[in-house]
Amino acid sequence: MAPTSVKVRSYAKINWTLEVLHLREDGYHEIRTIYQTVSLHDLLHIRASRRGVTVHCDDGLVPCDETNLAHKAALLLKELAGRKSGVTIDIEKRIPVAGGLAGGSSNAAATLMGLVRLWGLQVQDCDLLNLAAKIGSDVPFFLTGGTALGVGRGEEVYPLGEVSSSRLLLANPGIAVSTPGAYKGLGRLTTSGQTRIMPFTVLAAKGISELPLAARNDLEEVVLAVHPEIEGLKLRLIGLGANQALMSGSGATVFGVFDNKRDLSRALGAIRSAGYWCEAVRTVDRRGYFGTLFE
Ligand code: C5P
Repeated sequence: MAPTSVKVRSYAKINWTLEVLHLREDGYHEIRTIYQTVSLHDLLHIRASRRGVTVHCDDGLVPCDETNLAHKAALLLKELAGRKSGVTIDIEKRIPVAGGLAGGSSNAAATLMGLVRLWGLQVQDCDLLNLAAKIGSDVPFFLTGGTALGVGRGEEVYPLGEVSSSRLLLANPGIAVSTPGAYKGLGRLTTSGQTRIMPFTVLAAKGISELPLAARNDLEEVVLAVHPEIEGLKLRLIGLGANQALMSGSGATVFGVFDNKRDLSRALGAIRSAGYWCEAVRTVDRRGYFGTLFE
């Protein structure tokens, strides 16, 4: 018998690298990024209802109307599947909002996967991917998880060999950064740019395990110029023993890569006592991702 409710973990992501190549005719930017799922997650409780889509969230910063990406996902899938009945989605929010960790996009993908199970749907992978890409550039990645390459506007996703489990510290100065604003700040980019061979293919050939140390994000320059506190957090993480510190996506969350558990717990304490949001996380590989998606 089909379940009447499902609980789905909705994991956050970081970007090991994010290269912005050029502005496209459609207004998006052509990017090359390496995504990574991490253990920080929201929890979605999706329940069958008579009709319509209703979203609740325990964080007042999250809109629950049609602009909510989980709401959009549910409506689109309901339409695709021709379902008359509805759903109620309760979101327990732990991922910082507008923090560069793709919490909203992850909620959308978790809703799609949750509803496929709740409604017992037989949906082709490519239909689900197309629907995910309609919702947002980062949404398709969460149908793959683990370590993955994102090209195009980020929506074309290719699984990569996994980065071996890394200890990371996520820190956020409590600023919400607008993604369109961050991209707009890259005013120097023109539509005439040529797609070039990704420098990190060389890196991948050397060994994907090198990635944490080669982290790079082209959006940093723009966002850090407006929010110097993010640069401050990066330096603080390095000072506290991180091998590498980088802004994730369009920010403002920064991740620090640690290979020493003691340094990591000390840094966690120091950053929290300085008043910042901070969480210790591990990278989550594809197997771990799909193995723990449903509670
Ligand atoms: O796809 P998504 O809705 O998440 O993108 C939000 C905004 O971020 C876009 O409207 C666009 O302004 C910007 N963006 C971009 N290039 C990308 C991804 C996003 O310019 N590759």
